[in-house]
Amino acid sequence: MARKIAAGNWKMNGLGADLAELETLAGRSGDAAEVVICPPATLISRAVAKAGSVAIGGQDCHAAETGAHTGDVSALMLKEAGAGFVITGHSERRADHGESDADVAAKTEAAWAPGLTAIVCIGESLEEREGGRTLEVVGSQLAGSLPAGATPQNTVIAYEPIWAIGTGKVPSLEEIAEVHAFMREKLSARFEGGAEMALLYGGSVKPGNAAEIFGVPHVNGALVGGASLKASDFGGIIDALNAA
Ligand code: 13P
Repeated sequence: MARKIAAGNWKMNGLGADLAELETLAGRSGDAAEVVICPPATLISRAVAKAGSVAIGGQDCHAAETGAHTGDVSALMLKEAGAGFVITGHSERRADHGESDADVAAKTEAAWAPGLTAIVCIGESLEEREGGRTLEVVGSQLAGSLPAGATPQNTVIAYEPIWAIGTGKVPSLEEIAEVHAFMREKLSARFEGGAEMALLYGGSVKPGNAAEIFGVPHVNGALVGGASLKASDFGGIIDALNAA
């Protein structure tokens, strides 16, 4: 059985006062799903202090452990600050910072070294989807972004179609099912633990559409942007995952 994970990506949002939302989540009990919040790096230490059973994650890490990389944060630094997870290869980093699959694989390997679980993101653009290339793109990103040592403990995959992020547009359940079944097949063929690796869907997940998305085979949770900023919204998504 794959882990069930509700992960929130706050992106470049959040000041100290917003940790009140995290405190509300931390007050929940009895969740079957793992709950993860990835705040901006500036809030990680303070978030850990308030998180209770909610795990905290970074949004990116450098591939190196230390060195002359102004502005970057290493996986070991995240770990020392109390993080248990880190997102690698988010499409916004691939676009804003030119990160390639090879960069993402290096960051993912770096995340594992101090014991972080990497949430590795992949997903096609609108042009690629309309050109009928979704599975080809997802297959090649999956192959290129995952190092050989991926296990269900150290790696979670997030399928986030770029055109669904922050747009309110969501693929049909059939489209999600097709990609998730494809990823499961590829992961099972390549990795011993591929059948148990958690596969998250991301892109405009809200309390109102979460239950139907979690009903799709091989969807083991979600990576949520906008709706993770408010505990009331994210709580509804966690409830749907607990019930799935
Ligand atoms: P939204 O939930 O805001 O569409 O963002 C998805 C995402 O990019 C999570 O990493």
